[in-house]
Formats: sequence, C-alpha cells, structure tokens
Amino acid sequence: MIALISAVIFCFLTSALAQQGCSSEGQFTDSAGSYVFSWSLQSNGMYVDCNVSVNTADNRWVAVGFSENRAMPDTDVIIGANDGTDEFVEDRWNSQNRAAGPSLDPMQNIMNTSSMRDGNRLTISFTRPLVSPDTSGRDENLDVCRNVL
Ligand code: HEM
Ligand SMILES: *[C@@H]1O[C@H](CO)[C@@H](O)[C@H](O)[C@H]1NC(C)=O
Ligand SMILES: *[C@@H]1O[C@H](CO)[C@@H](O)[C@H](O)[C@H]1NC(C)=O
Repeated sequence: MIALISAVIFCFLTSALAQQGCSSEGQFTDSAGSYVFSWSLQSNGMYVDCNVSVNTADNRWVAVGFSENRAMPDTDVIIGANDGTDEFVEDRWNSQNRAAGPSLDPMQNIMNTSSMRDGNRLTISFTRPLVSPDTSGRDENLDVCRNVL
C-alpha cells in the first residue's frame, strides 16, 4: 500500500481557469513543465477526460482538486499513485480537517482510470461526469467555473 500519510503535499494552486473563462478543454502547467493538468470535454458534453502528470518520487501521490475556492477544505479530489507494484486512482473529498487529508468517497464517480510511472514522472488519467450523480456533497460539478487545485 502506498500510505497517504507518507506523502509529500503537492498543492498546485491556480486561478487560471477563472482567468481564461470556463473552457471545454485546456491545460495548466508551470514553466518548467514539472506538472501538467489537462482536460477535455467529450463531444457528448457529459464526460470530461483528465490527465495529471507530475514529477514525483515512487512512494508519493499526485492529486487534482476542483473547488469553489482556493483553500484545501471542501475540495473534490482525484488522487492516485503508482510505485511500480501498487497503484490506485480514487475519488476523494477534502473535509474541513486539512490534516486528515482526502477521504474516500463512498460513491466512486470516476471511470476509465489509469496510472503510469515513467521514472520520476507519474501520470494519472481518469474520466469524470461533468455533473456528478453523487449528490452527497462530495463531488463538485464542472458545468460552472471551478478553481483547480
Ligand atoms: C494526506 C493528504 C493531505 C494532507 C495531510 C494535507 C494537509 C495540509 C495542511 C496541514 C495544510 C496547511 C499547511 C500550512 O498551513 O502550512 C494544507 C494546505 C493546503 N492543501 Fe492540503 N493536505 C493534503 C492533501 C491535499 C490535496 C489532495 C489538496 C488538493 C488537491 C490539497 C490542497 C491544499 C491547499 C490548496 C492548501 C493551501 C490552502 C489552505 O491551507 O487551505 N491538500 N494541506
Ligand atoms: C491524456 O493522455 C493520453 C495519452 O497520452 C492522450 O491520448 C489524451 O488525449 C490525453 N487527454 C487529455 C485530456 O489531455
Ligand atoms: C471508457 O473507455 C471505453 C473503452 O475505450 C469507452 O468505450 C467508454 O466510452 C469510456 N467511458 C467513458 C465514460 O468515457
């Protein structure tokens, strides 16, 4: 198991989505290319394909968050890791308690997940519904602009 607790926190926070307006596809990266988040709305308008690619060590995870604000609490999280033996890509939620980290959603609303490690480059891919059927409050709908954490 890749323990979440052993993870270094990578918090890539951007308000670029708001600046460029809600776009059906795009990508965020830094100048060094050390992380890339890319997304594309499927032509059916119902599902969004996402890739998250980050330079990170074997025993560490990567996550992307969708949020109504720029703080950690109340954020819809997709988190994944792959150390060459174990791998996961999971739908989670950051509660009010930062130190607790993201907890697993009882209802998993991501599909076609994959993770791949190439040296220190970790990439997770997933598809999620634009509007989630999870009405428990643990997913953010993406049919309006969100901050990407
Ligand atoms: C085990 C997992 C995690 C732990 C233990 C954790 C813990 C923390 C802690 C303690 C802080 C406050 C840091 C400080 O005050 O110096 C923080 C900040 C932050 N975290 Fe996390 N975090 C985790 C995962 C995540 C994830 C998955 C995201 C988003 C995808 C995220 C987004 C943020 C952001 C944006 C901040 C800065 C703004 C704020 O404090 O609300 N974190 N985290
Ligand atoms: C994600 O990566 C795969 C494999 O490289 C690529 O085919 C796909 O177009 C990418 N999707 C997005 C949204 O970037
Ligand atoms: C998942 O992948 C399969 C096979 O490529 C594809 O037919 C299906 O449409 C994908 N599901 C979603 C929600 O994109």
